[in-house]
Amino acid sequence: MRREFLTGAATLAACSPIPPGAARVVSREGLADHARQSGRYFGAAVKSRLLREDRAYRAAAARECNILVQEYELKRKTAEPKPGKYDFKGADEIIDFAQQHGMRARGHTLVWYTANPTWLEPAVERAGKAEQRRLMTSYIDVAMRRYAGRISEWDVVNETLEPNQGRADGMRAENLWMKAMGEHYIDLAFHRAREVDGDATLFLGDYGLEHDSPRCERRRTAMLKLLDRLLGRGVPIDAVGVQGHLKPYREPFKQRQFADFLDTLSGYGLKLAITELDIADRGGPPNPEKRDREVAAFGKAFLDVALDNPAVESVLCWGISDQYSWLSNYPEYKWPDGQLSRGLPFDGKMARKPFWDAIAGAFDAAPPVGRRNRA
Ligand code: XIL
Repeated sequence: MRREFLTGAATLAACSPIPPGAARVVSREGLADHARQSGRYFGAAVKSRLLREDRAYRAAAARECNILVQEYELKRKTAEPKPGKYDFKGADEIIDFAQQHGMRARGHTLVWYTANPTWLEPAVERAGKAEQRRLMTSYIDVAMRRYAGRISEWDVVNETLEPNQGRADGMRAENLWMKAMGEHYIDLAFHRAREVDGDATLFLGDYGLEHDSPRCERRRTAMLKLLDRLLGRGVPIDAVGVQGHLKPYREPFKQRQFADFLDTLSGYGLKLAITELDIADRGGPPNPEKRDREVAAFGKAFLDVALDNPAVESVLCWGISDQYSWLSNYPEYKWPDGQLSRGLPFDGKMARKPFWDAIAGAFDAAPPVGRRNRA
């Protein structure tokens, strides 16, 4: 089967929105069942508290997902609130839940510029070179050892790029690790992660790689140049996590351009995953049904490309239900009038939305993992 992508900019209108009232097959299957048909994984970022307290949420996670990631529980701020004093309670709950349900688990995230405990940055600033390295690798050691065999893939380094911070190479300058060690902090993190758990798949993750905009173009360029340097130095990166925080009402999207970018990445021999998919609907039409259809169509256009790349094995949304989405809190994405953002597959009452059908449909049309439809 050959599938041609839309050529030119995929405007929302060109994405052939799912028509109003279109018959929907009501199914008790979850998205994981759709993903499994082509050997893939669907999952979501979950919060331990919600798994504990909200039964509908827990049931949806169990039904829809065959891979899970923590929304905050393995960020260092949560897991190491005081130096060397760890709190893995929330993460343990999520990993236990994943294991009980036969799911895979990702770990998010070992080395990041943000979501660190307040003690960390001053400690790094005061430290000598060896101590700086220890301050970074100690968390890799402890977290990866604890979950060896249970967390099969890690976001080792998250969000290293920020071309707006004045560096010619597009690396984020405002980053405690960059300030301490320069770019080699990334080398150190991956080498260490490989040593600690030789079986885990090691990811470098970033955002702003998806749209047809000057912002994303600069970020894609910076990412490819960074990978050239890292892979050239033999840094053991296995995979790139394309976060997939999409904003269709802010920036256009071109299927061919995104397909080419993914092809370049997989051409390096890297595995790929969409790790944090959600769709900011701020700026869309006021009618929520119409917006839902557009969001779904946009999501389908995006996933058709992603899932046609043989290296993309999993897709995770950044949340399950609009009720708890960070899109409704984050200043850049939230609606000024306080209404819920509608960027996830389930609405605020845990009902499936057209975006759910779009994800299921994209999985159903996907070639078996490792193969492609497109010639
Ligand atoms: C977000 C969480 O969802 C929010 O609750 C928190 O306030 C900020 O972080 N990229 C990432 C995620 O890698 O960890 C972020 O998660 C969203 C952007």
